[in-house]
Amino acid sequence: MKDVVNQLENDGFVVLEDFLKPEEIDELRGAGEEFTTNLPPEKDRKIFNTVDQQQSKDRYFIDSANKICYFFESEALEDNGSLKVHPRVSLNKVGHALHWLHPVFKKYTFSEKVKEIAFQLELIEPAVCQSMYIYKNPGIGSEVVTHQDASYLYTDPVKLIGFWIALEDATRDNGCLWIASSSHKSGVHRRYVRNRDPLAEELLVYDRPAAYYQESSFRPIEVRKGTCILLHGQVVHFSKDNKSDRSRHAYTFHIVETHHVNYSRNNWLQPPKEGFPLLYTN
Ligand code: FE2
Repeated sequence: MKDVVNQLENDGFVVLEDFLKPEEIDELRGAGEEFTTNLPPEKDRKIFNTVDQQQSKDRYFIDSANKICYFFESEALEDNGSLKVHPRVSLNKVGHALHWLHPVFKKYTFSEKVKEIAFQLELIEPAVCQSMYIYKNPGIGSEVVTHQDASYLYTDPVKLIGFWIALEDATRDNGCLWIASSSHKSGVHRRYVRNRDPLAEELLVYDRPAAYYQESSFRPIEVRKGTCILLHGQVVHFSKDNKSDRSRHAYTFHIVETHHVNYSRNNWLQPPKEGFPLLYTN
């Protein structure tokens, strides 16, 4: 465990192999696949895409913070919301409160293993702020552009940890994470915030342009299913589109320190009235 703390501090990420057992992976995969059998009606289908940021204009996206909402791949939908592909491979992700509202995701998020990691990282009152099931479907799974998670879930001081759990082998071909080692050491480069202009079409905006990142700084983190990658909130990462014929499912969630830490009111994602659920006591 000492290695985990040191590695996170030095590299900004840690690869924990065999974090989940095969039957645990299957249970999470099953729950993720079940969502695809119960899709919203055509008129309510929304897409998620980090390239054109369509969701910045969507009330549905902002309102998904404390719900279970479905986001489609842009290439999966016709203009009228009908599907171009099989429902099983149409979703980009489901989020953002699986950890609280779904029994299977809740069980693995508030597990002893997760609590132990938070404890080792000396988090005093960590809370879970969001969760997502990510599909990265074959052929149409879109890229996630280069970013820091703290741009979206900003706290002062920054105390944000991502758990990214591969539920299928993640390789260069099907869109594994690419991470710039030690890139977490130069602060938060930009923030994604609620738009103060009430007349603007965009409900959410970036406060400044994206920083320039040298492609050679990134390396692909290919992992076997069941591996958990811990991400420092400031480490810079991305994933490419999935051009392969295999999906790349993952379950990911984030924890934030709440003790003497201010969670920004400008973040797109705001806690429920009762606050984010605390990790140690749930
Ligand atoms: Fe991320």
